[in-house]
Amino acid sequence: MSLYQTTASAPVNIACIKYWGKRDTTLILPTNSSLSVTLSQDNLRSTTTSRSDSSFTKTRLWLNGVEEEIKPNGRLDRCLAELRKMRKENVEDKNPNAPKLNTWNLHIASYNNFPTAAGLASSASGFAALTASVAALYGLNSFPSSPSTSYSPPATASQLSLIARQGSGSACRSLFGGFVAWEMGNNPDGKDSLAVQVAPESHWPSLHALICVVNSGKKGTSSTAGMQNTVLTSSLLQHRIKDVVPSRMSAITQAILSKDFDSFAKITMQDSNQFHAVALDTFPPIFYMNDVSRAIIAIITELNRVSVEETGHLVAAYTFDAGPNAVIYTEAEHIKTIIQLLLNYFPIDFAAAPFHDSFALFEGGHPKAA
Ligand code: ADP
Ligand code: DP6
Ligand code: CO
Repeated sequence: MSLYQTTASAPVNIACIKYWGKRDTTLILPTNSSLSVTLSQDNLRSTTTSRSDSSFTKTRLWLNGVEEEIKPNGRLDRCLAELRKMRKENVEDKNPNAPKLNTWNLHIASYNNFPTAAGLASSASGFAALTASVAALYGLNSFPSSPSTSYSPPATASQLSLIARQGSGSACRSLFGGFVAWEMGNNPDGKDSLAVQVAPESHWPSLHALICVVNSGKKGTSSTAGMQNTVLTSSLLQHRIKDVVPSRMSAITQAILSKDFDSFAKITMQDSNQFHAVALDTFPPIFYMNDVSRAIIAIITELNRVSVEETGHLVAAYTFDAGPNAVIYTEAEHIKTIIQLLLNYFPIDFAAAPFHDSFALFEGGHPKAA
């Protein structure tokens, strides 16, 4: 008996232009394009091992050691169906000797080395790692051993992003390192709703991300449920989709390409603010940030005010996903100052931390290839 097993790992990505809203909830097609930075540090990753065996009687998934139910035709089921189809069409139909893995069940085990469902993008790294792991198992993203063979892998990262997207929208962006756009597309079949790399990590090595874990608990409203209610009830979302995001997408792309930190930081903070305003405009309202989150905004705002006065430039940008935890983008030379400043206000000491929330700072590396 041969054993078919692969392990793949994917990092989280943190959006500067936020995805929030679906125009198709089954295919996961967004109401606006988005753009993120894939983080390179090893402390925010999902690692997924997939095994295929003809003796498995059903497909099963364990998340952090606990078995999860796989709902028929749910997100995970649909991702796996797409991967099986790709295996069949690209490998098995072309090579009659290839084992019929597409007909075998899978056992999949995934671990997140950071809080799950806490607004730190676990669904992004999780579904990216799962897609990458099964794609590797199925031989969809590997090159042949002989370099002389003219060969292109059946699936590019953008093609795999179409599959990861159907697990969790934000996951499509974690298949690339560096700076990544998710182009919303306009095709009803979703074939043009995919991730593309705007610039590799090496493009802007001095850009760093600081992760501030304000609360590692599971959030009250999942991203999926929250954004669906926003689509149904928020008029501010319509303004955001039509009048705000398209120009921000081109402006931030330009800022990244020219390594213009001032523009990058301003747009990132404005977009985080508007995303949380849209959450508040949902009925009933959704509050993802808490008092510690708002204190972090005040600290960064004051730091930037003083810096603009002294040097004419911003030094940091905060952004918050669907949870209270902050990510702060800054350039290498300012990391120490920012960590010291935050530690002055929030000592890493559970008893002293405000509201009995824990506060941890992970010093992030710069974005790195996935
Ligand atoms: P987050 O802010 O962490 O992305 P979401 O509400 O978007 O929170 O999604 C959390 C859900 O994503 C989890 O409840 C789980 O269903 C799924 N998920 C998280 N990590 C993984 C993983 N490693 N593998 C598969 N699914 C995962
Ligand atoms: C605020 O990708 O987690 O982090 O597609 O329903 O799984 P689903 O939602 P998800 O939403 C992420 C929302 C966000 C912004 C972003 O990452 O762009
Ligand atoms: Co998520």
